Amino acid sequence: MRVTVIGAGYVGLVTAACFADVGNKVTCVERDPGRIDALEKAQVPFYEPGLSELVGRNAAQERMHFVPSVEEGLDGAQVCFIAVGTPPLPTGQADMSQVRGAAREIGQHVSGPLVVVQKSTAPVGTVKMVQAIIDEEMERRGVNHWVSVVSNPEFLKEGSAIEDFTRGDRIVLGSVDDRAIAVMRDLYRPFNRNHEKIMVMSPPSSELTKYAANTMLATRISFMNELARLAEAVGADIEQVRLGMGVDQRIGSHFLYAGAGYGGSCFPKDVKALAFMAREAGLRAELAEAVDAVNQRQKQRMFEKIAAHYASQGLRGKTFAIWGLAFKPNTDDMRDAPSIDLIDALLAAGARVRAFDPVAMETAGKHWGPREGLSLVADVKSALDGADALAVVTEWHTFRSPDFEQLAVVLRDRVVFDGRNLWDPAAVRTAGLAYYGIGRG
Ligand SMILES: NC(=O)c1ccc[n+]([C@@H]2O[C@H](COP(=O)([O-])OP(=O)(O)OC[C@H]3O[C@@H](n4cnc5c(N)ncnc54)[C@H](O)[C@@H]3O)[C@@H](O)[C@H]2O)c1
Repeated sequence: MRVTVIGAGYVGLVTAACFADVGNKVTCVERDPGRIDALEKAQVPFYEPGLSELVGRNAAQERMHFVPSVEEGLDGAQVCFIAVGTPPLPTGQADMSQVRGAAREIGQHVSGPLVVVQKSTAPVGTVKMVQAIIDEEMERRGVNHWVSVVSNPEFLKEGSAIEDFTRGDRIVLGSVDDRAIAVMRDLYRPFNRNHEKIMVMSPPSSELTKYAANTMLATRISFMNELARLAEAVGADIEQVRLGMGVDQRIGSHFLYAGAGYGGSCFPKDVKALAFMAREAGLRAELAEAVDAVNQRQKQRMFEKIAAHYASQGLRGKTFAIWGLAFKPNTDDMRDAPSIDLIDALLAAGARVRAFDPVAMETAGKHWGPREGLSLVADVKSALDGADALAVVTEWHTFRSPDFEQLAVVLRDRVVFDGRNLWDPAAVRTAGLAYYGIGRG
């Protein structure tokens, strides 16, 4: 099939590469010239395991190519994905300008029958809106092609995006148009062989499913973070509580980790957008609002612990090693990462920071630029040079078993702040370090 994907971000590029890899001819439309330049040299502009190889292979075999405009990218396409950004506005509402822009360009250039797939995470009503924009543009041009808009939310996780895309739990299609659904079934057939994963539902149900799934996952995290505070207050260990809860099959063990708060490009914005959607519908999503509020507070938690430890001396002039900047392991994405809150608060308090992340150093450099007091360093060891204390913010594998005896020698104040409960407090203390985790009363 001939497929066009608008937006070469995490979702667009993974979608394009995975469909190309099973034999489709895929055109990626990306308006950022820097991204196009990089992609033409088979350089993926962000870190995602396996994606460079996949893009390189499919570009070399001419199943995937990159163009800067929808006008050039739509020619001959049977399916066109919209995979552009939907970042949050200050109100929490999803900013739909990129989706509207893409829809308008499709309407201006479509030249034959086309299924338009709305893959960006966008509020209920977006399929209808995209269809209306395309129809309006076609009417303006005096053309009348069969164009059918389908909702197809994406559930991939950064860090395992290819695996999630090709072997996902489900493929949700929101449409009432049998012809469009048949095209989508055909396109997804290679990823739907083992058992039936396609779930066809109404567009509003499909659109809401994506927000519901992300808000549910975020709810579990905020619940554990709230419980972690209680555990600290009453002398319980959240890690033991987590294990005791997780074995209950009605609860399950996933997404039950207390920590420095959730971040990333999806949970924070999608929880806020769900709450906004509810307000628009004359309701209040009180639980979603609380999930967001608990998370905002949790992102201050590590700084509060550090400030409390140093209450008598103050933080001015202290140097902190920070391990982990990405919002989670296996990505260089730092959007809304808790590391940003912690580092900004430490710098504002007059402390110095030496920060390291296995893959997010370039992203960090772009985020902060040259900043007084902040050194972005090349490895785990350099972060510790001259440090008084260590804080771990992202649970990368490489941080899981450090030499605590060595840390006790290197860290001047002999204290560690474990924002992901990676370490055994007893082992750390035995090595002569003070230990602060999350919820380990
Ligand atoms: N990142 C994730 O893990 C993830 C997972 C599931 C769903 N989503 C959703 O998928 C959508 C895309 O997310 P992302 O992280 O890939 O976004 P992104 O911001 O990384 O990428 C979007 C890309 O679209 C390009 N773009 C915007 N308008 C364009 C246009 N008119 N023509 C050509 N290019 C255009 C931008 O330049 C950008 O490169 C969002 O709605 C997001 O919520 C993201």
